[in-house]
Amino acid sequence: MHVSGTIRVPGDKSITHRALMLAALAGGTSWIGGALTAFDARSTARVLRGLGAELSPLMPDRVTRVRAGRRFHRPSRRLDCGNSGTTTRLLLGLLAAHPFRAELTGDASLRGRPMRRVTTPLAQMGARFEDLVDGDGLPLAIRGGRLHELTYELPVSSAQIKSALLLAGMAAAVPVHLREPLGRSRDHTERLLRAFGFAVQETPDGWIHSVPGARLAPFELQVPGDPSSAAFLVAAALLADAGELAVAGVGLNPTRTGFLQVLARMGASVRQEPEREELGEPVGTLVARASSLVATEVNGAEIPALIDEVPILAVLAARASGTTVFRGVGELRVKESDRLALLAEDLVSVGVAAEAVGDALYVTGSDRPPRGRVRTLGDHRIAMAFAVLGTVPGAAVDIDDLACAGVSFPGFSATLRSIIPRPAGRRA
Ligand code: S3P
Repeated sequence: MHVSGTIRVPGDKSITHRALMLAALAGGTSWIGGALTAFDARSTARVLRGLGAELSPLMPDRVTRVRAGRRFHRPSRRLDCGNSGTTTRLLLGLLAAHPFRAELTGDASLRGRPMRRVTTPLAQMGARFEDLVDGDGLPLAIRGGRLHELTYELPVSSAQIKSALLLAGMAAAVPVHLREPLGRSRDHTERLLRAFGFAVQETPDGWIHSVPGARLAPFELQVPGDPSSAAFLVAAALLADAGELAVAGVGLNPTRTGFLQVLARMGASVRQEPEREELGEPVGTLVARASSLVATEVNGAEIPALIDEVPILAVLAARASGTTVFRGVGELRVKESDRLALLAEDLVSVGVAAEAVGDALYVTGSDRPPRGRVRTLGDHRIAMAFAVLGTVPGAAVDIDDLACAGVSFPGFSATLRSIIPRPAGRRA
């Protein structure tokens, strides 16, 4: 099995959400090229339309036009955030600064995900919340208004919590001071706000200070390719017998590329070639060569910069010699599925020795062909990770739902097939 070629991946999901949201409050017409068109991005577009912004349809290879005022309008119906936690949590931050009541909901997976991690600090700033269901989840109602300055230490390192609070501070023109406990989560919100003239500073002791002053203005932005989507193709290239694959135009923000450090320790040959910057975001090419892999230990402080790459790294660990351990991955239990339990279950079901113990995951590699059935629970990253495992010689990996890859990576199966001439996700 040989890998070759140069490919591009769809636009960065995190940057797409943020760009659409900021454009929806920019008071004019903004143009966003390369925006992700996947289900999650459509969820953001849908709720922004429900709040009065005009967005052209999200379509591949089309620039998205966003025409908006400086404030959201009161929505006439419940805002459906689909499968997207980022849409929900970041939007709660923006809605906290708006003096009306809005109800948010989502699909079955999203309704079960914790929201108090965001509503608790937003309530400290002055927003009010109503649970519309028992326990911590959706649907819920928010009533925003005038907010106060916030100083807050996050209980977990999370870009969604951090961004919700920074966006609330921006929209309400109040200062926000934050600190994450361990490791730095992705900093796209900070970079974008800085690029728009807001003062967002980080001190050596890990505090982020954002002070009001600037005003959003309409903008143009080219969204880089998503490094989390690139990671699946890089992994497929590493597992090939021979060859080299280049992924061009991909975001290389160091708070997203933690997986590259882990891959280097595993003996993988992956080169980063930075080329340009786009509104404060480094962009370039990743070049991956077929490699033989060895186990490594991933510690808790590394996790925030590779949180979405644990599934694909676990799949690579299943092909590496030795036992890889991922420590401090408890946050995976509250992703699109309980990713920690599901990863261990699916690895075992295709014949890999794996175990989730507390908030750690152990995976012992082997070169036996993986064979068996994979349950995704609609989790896109689980589906894509196991589709990559299904490309190794002799594999018979049967994935119950590969279509859910469309949550973040439209055309994933076709792209995987285009780099490796073998059907992905089907019995060999
Ligand atoms: C995201 C942050 C991460 C990540 C998610 C996207 C973002 O979640 O898992 O896919 O765009 O801010 P947490 O910040 O909750 O870890």
